[in-house]
Order: sequence, then structure tokens, then C-alpha cells
Amino acid sequence: MNGERRRSGGVARTGPPRWLKPALFAAALIPFGYLAVGLLADGLGANPVETITHVSGEWALRLLLLTLLVTPLRRATGLTWLVRLRRMLGLFAFFYVVVHFTTYALLDAGLDLAYVVEDVLDRPYITVGFVTLCALVPLAATSTDAMIRRLGGARWRRLHRLAYFAGAGAVLHFLWLAFSKSDLREPLIYFAILVVLLVARLPAVAARLGRLAPRRVAAPARADPPPPSPAKRQAAR
Ligand code: HEM
Repeated sequence: MNGERRRSGGVARTGPPRWLKPALFAAALIPFGYLAVGLLADGLGANPVETITHVSGEWALRLLLLTLLVTPLRRATGLTWLVRLRRMLGLFAFFYVVVHFTTYALLDAGLDLAYVVEDVLDRPYITVGFVTLCALVPLAATSTDAMIRRLGGARWRRLHRLAYFAGAGAVLHFLWLAFSKSDLREPLIYFAILVVLLVARLPAVAARLGRLAPRRVAAPARADPPPPSPAKRQAAR
């Protein structure tokens, strides 16, 4: 997965292959398409609500972990443009969380606020899911260039460390649920991935990953218009 080298004004620049972002966008919509078509065609099995909760929850978690993978992968490969895919992955994770929660609130709880509040307070895995959802809201809300500029790169990055908390919350939510069903196999795989991603952030490990990156010819920061603002470049670190 190598970035394309393009020439612009006589200067070679690196960026993601042009097809990558639209392809990733389309791929991230596949689970939603599956649910939408299945719902319309009555093809989501005997319990459509369970299927939607299951598919949206799993994809929210997968996309969240993929978002967390971007920084270590960028360090290990030296492909700085990978960071430009992170926002899209994160927003899709949030999108699936919203689908997940809406399904629960609308179809499980029948929009009964008192029921939802009681559930959040009474069932620990729902409590954890709710806290995780709350952690994801400020991340989604501050994902725009304008918010990055407003907060400043350092504060924005500090806030966005919440993504690791959200990742841990999502895995715990799944583990707790699976524990009650006595089948921990799948959530334990996500747990292991999360641990690897957290370890990869430790300064010593991050430095080692950085040394794996092939040395590249120095190139100006960005390829595609519009060029990133200083705040966005700071946020990309
Ligand atoms: C208020 C917030 C949330 C509520 C009310 C909620 C509710 C639920 C419910 C009712 C289930 C299905 C339980 C069952 O099968 O018996 C579930 C499963 C799941 N949820 Fe959540 N959830 C919330 C937040 C989240 C978040 C933030 C994530 C991930 C980022 C997530 C990921 C998952 C996963 C992976 C499953 C297991 C899916 C499966 O394989 O069955 N949930 N959640």
C-alpha cells in the first residue's frame, strides 16, 4: 500500500492513491447497505432488531480499532498520508454507534426514556456502552478542520486521546455482554487487538516502530488540494 508520488509544480509529493478514500468510504457503507436492504427485503432473519444491534455494534468496534491502528501503522511505515484516512474511519465508527444506539432506543426500548435510564443504571454492560457513546460524542463533534483550528493542535490531540478510552469501553461492553452468555472468544480477540494498539503507543514501542519506517526522500507536507492548515497538520501527529 504505497502512496502515489505525484508531481505538482515540479515538486514530487506523496499522498494516498486517489482511489483509496472513495474505496474505503464505499467499503465502510457495506454493512449499512446490508442492513438497509435486509430490512426492506425482510431478510434480516427471525430477529431483525438483534441482527441490526449485532452488525452495527461489531462494525462500530471494528472501525474504532481501525481508527486506533492508523497512528502506529503510520509510524511503522512512514506513510504520513495514512492519517488522512483516520477522520473518515472515526466518523464511520461513530455512525455505526449511532445506528446501534438508535436501534436499541427505538426498537428495543420503544423510545421510553425512563426505560433507557433505568437500563443504563441497572445493567453494567449498558452502562459501559453508554459511557463509551458519551466519550465518542466530543470526538465526532471536534472532527472538523474548524474545530481543530479552534482548539489548537495540542488541545485537540489531548482530547482525542479519549479514542483509546472509547476503544477500551467498547471492548469492555462486548466482554461484559459475552460473559453473561458464557462465550468470550470473539470479544477476547478484540481485547487482544486493543492491548496491542495500546502497547504500540508506549513511547519506547512507538520509537521502535518509527525506526522500522523506510527512509524516504524528504517531500513537502501534502499532495492534494486543499493544503492542510497548520492546525490540521498539528492534529495529524
Ligand atoms: C448507550 C450505548 C449502547 C447501548 C444501549 C448498547 C446496547 C447493546 C445491546 C442491547 C446489545 C445486544 C445485547 C444482546 O445481544 O443481548 C449490544 C451489543 C454490542 N454492542 Fe452495544 N450498546 C451501546 C454502545 C455501544 C458502543 C459505543 C459500541 C462500540 C463502539 C458497542 C458495541 C457493541 C458490540 C460489539 C456488541 C456485540 C454485538 C454482537 O456480537 O452481538 N455498543 N449493545
